Amino acid sequence: MSVTPEVYAFLSDLLKKNSGLSLGTGKEYLIEGRLPPVATTFGLSGLDALVQRLRGVPDPKLLKAVCDAMTTGETLFFRDGGPFDAFRDRLLPEAAQRARAARRPLRLWVAATSTGQEVYSLLMLVAQAGAVMDGVRLELVATDYCTASLERARQGIYNQFEVQRGLPVQLLVKFFQPVPQGYQVIPALREQPQFSEQNLLRPFTNLGMFDIVFVRNVLIYFDVPDKADVLTRIARQLHPGGVVVLGGTESILGITDALARLDGYPAPVYARTGDPVARAEGKRSAA
Ligand SMILES: C[S@@+](CC[C@H](N)C(=O)[O-])C[C@H]1O[C@@H](n2cnc3c(N)ncnc32)[C@H](O)[C@@H]1O
Repeated sequence: MSVTPEVYAFLSDLLKKNSGLSLGTGKEYLIEGRLPPVATTFGLSGLDALVQRLRGVPDPKLLKAVCDAMTTGETLFFRDGGPFDAFRDRLLPEAAQRARAARRPLRLWVAATSTGQEVYSLLMLVAQAGAVMDGVRLELVATDYCTASLERARQGIYNQFEVQRGLPVQLLVKFFQPVPQGYQVIPALREQPQFSEQNLLRPFTNLGMFDIVFVRNVLIYFDVPDKADVLTRIARQLHPGGVVVLGGTESILGITDALARLDGYPAPVYARTGDPVARAEGKRSAA
């Protein structure tokens, strides 16, 4: 089946409403490449039959499988470098200090975990932070919309190609064990994140308040109103001094005024607008 304009419009609308994905124009090839295998899994004859089944009130499992198939899970260890330098050198020490003073856990949320490389990159840095974390317990919440990616993140198994993307060999030796499929993150790290499914379009207040939120390279797929909505709701869940880290190419300029960019970090780091703690730390460290 070729993707007619009517089918394209129908699927675009369905994806936007359910996962936030703003397909835009000219992505027929993505539909043609990714949805026929979903049809096969559900015993349907092809894309036509799949689209028919999605009309009206679709089977929630089929709808989820379609949305999952259309997400892009591209990720790698220590992606972009800068955010991880910022985390190690300033965000983690400053958040640890605040958590210690308030006698509460340091809470970190990775909001589009994909297959886990970002989560484990951060955990390797925490494991090497030494005295920075003295007396502070870390609570790491790792969420994603895509069920299969989350399952892979939980398992923490990466093949040869994946461990060659961004992971220094000394960290591979220290934090991974060889397994038949490649390398698996050691249990001490793997057991730390609380992995759960979370669609960013839906409410997430139940996740609690956070010191640091990594929400990188996911909002680029959303349209402006959805982006603004998600960022505004994340801003409400920041502890005083809390920060949001976005992807290297992302900016919120003209999208929301709930967050303000902090100067002097080697990554796009934002705090809740007017937060005096974050501003003070940003200026002090930048000086
Ligand atoms: C390109 S990956 C980014 C992974 C990682 N944050 C990074 O920067 O390397 C985008 C991730 O966003 C997830 N995603 C897409 N739509 C989502 C939504 N509505 N809610 C939560 N996660 C979503 C996808 O499943 C995918 O794992």
